[in-house]
Amino acid sequence: MTSALKSAARAGLPVPFLDIDKIIGDRETKIIICCGSGGVGKTTTSAAVALRAAEAGRKVVVLTIDPARRLAQSLGVGELDNTPRPVSMIDTAAGGSLDAMMLDMKNTFDDVVLAHSTPEKAAAILQNQFYVALSSEFSGTQEYMAMEKLGQLHTEAEASGRWDLIVVDTPPARSALDFLDAPEHLSALLDGRFLRFLLHPTRGPLRLMGAGFSMISAAMNKILGAQIISDVQTFVRAFEALFGGFRQRATSTFQLLSSRHSTFLVVATPQHDALREAEYFVDRLTEEGMPLSGMVINRVHTCALAISPERALSLAEDLADTSAVLEVEALRRHANLMRMIETETRMMERFAAARPTVAQTQVQSLPTDVTDLAALRRVGALLSDKD
Ligand SMILES: Nc1ncnc2c1ncn2[C@@H]1O[C@H](COP(=O)(O)OP(=O)(O)OP(=O)(O)O)[C@@H](O)[C@H]1O
Ligand SMILES: [Mg+2]
Repeated sequence: MTSALKSAARAGLPVPFLDIDKIIGDRETKIIICCGSGGVGKTTTSAAVALRAAEAGRKVVVLTIDPARRLAQSLGVGELDNTPRPVSMIDTAAGGSLDAMMLDMKNTFDDVVLAHSTPEKAAAILQNQFYVALSSEFSGTQEYMAMEKLGQLHTEAEASGRWDLIVVDTPPARSALDFLDAPEHLSALLDGRFLRFLLHPTRGPLRLMGAGFSMISAAMNKILGAQIISDVQTFVRAFEALFGGFRQRATSTFQLLSSRHSTFLVVATPQHDALREAEYFVDRLTEEGMPLSGMVINRVHTCALAISPERALSLAEDLADTSAVLEVEALRRHANLMRMIETETRMMERFAAARPTVAQTQVQSLPTDVTDLAALRRVGALLSDKD
């Protein structure tokens, strides 16, 4: 009886149940996005939901981002190649299928450039050092490319009928919902005063003239290196034409995300910081009018042995001077686990009280990492379990 559902109910707060099976059973659900702060189980939840949906008869593709190596191997996506590949060894009795892919940010970016510019322009952009840095390191690129890839998968799914459900993992967000802001970041970068200044140093509010210009320009060349400045200028010029297309697609992906065919799951663990971040996610999604199904509280600790921590410690004390060393150790560990469960329950109760209408489900903390299909199946079953 450690679930927030029950503890919240005890506190007089009935929390709605997040019914994953209902969501995946609804053929109108075409996109499920798992978001949340770093390390809470977004990739695990995405893969588990995708597997469960596939085994329930949906034709699923899961877009994972940086899965742990062993999980990637179990899904058959050990190689970064941006191509959805069938996951073998799943139960297809209900007529479903599962493809998995791992986002290759740089290749996705390159594909966009190649698809939307002339070969000469594309070649100029792809070789540009500034582009190389931007496409692999710019914070926000990963989020943006995940959305770009989602748009592509959706178009392909509609055209080919190969998939009827796309499950999307998201990168560890540094601040709430970076991926919703990513097109804005890119736009801010490319629209940025600094870049415009580099591009047209004699125009605009930062304009420089005459001696001042050559002096500052020389100083900047010294600091940044002439090559970088000329790379940025070439890049921005070549990119300006492309840029409109980027924004347009970002807008249509945004519309897709807010449609009734999409739904968001916010993943958190029952710790103070993770739940605090989850509140931001829930609020931000609500503000943006995004369809939120609810919260997955992952790695919840449970214990079948109903001995209170006080009782366990007092028993340990009684045995302290005997030779029952292992028993004393086990009782102390039990007391620590029970205290952790008490804290987690308190945190979940606080969340439920603050956001009482947000549906929840919980997944208990398994003894080992989730790296194979059997463990993913177990997480899927726990996700869907009301008790
Ligand atoms: N319920 C669980 N029980 C045990 N281990 C779990 C559980 N859920 C996730 N894990 C493990 O926790 C680790 C982090 O999970 P995961 O990679 O899914 O998180 P993430 O939110 O995607 O992280 P990141 O923000 O880095 O992308 C992994 O090693 C995973 O196997
Ligand atoms: Mg992850």
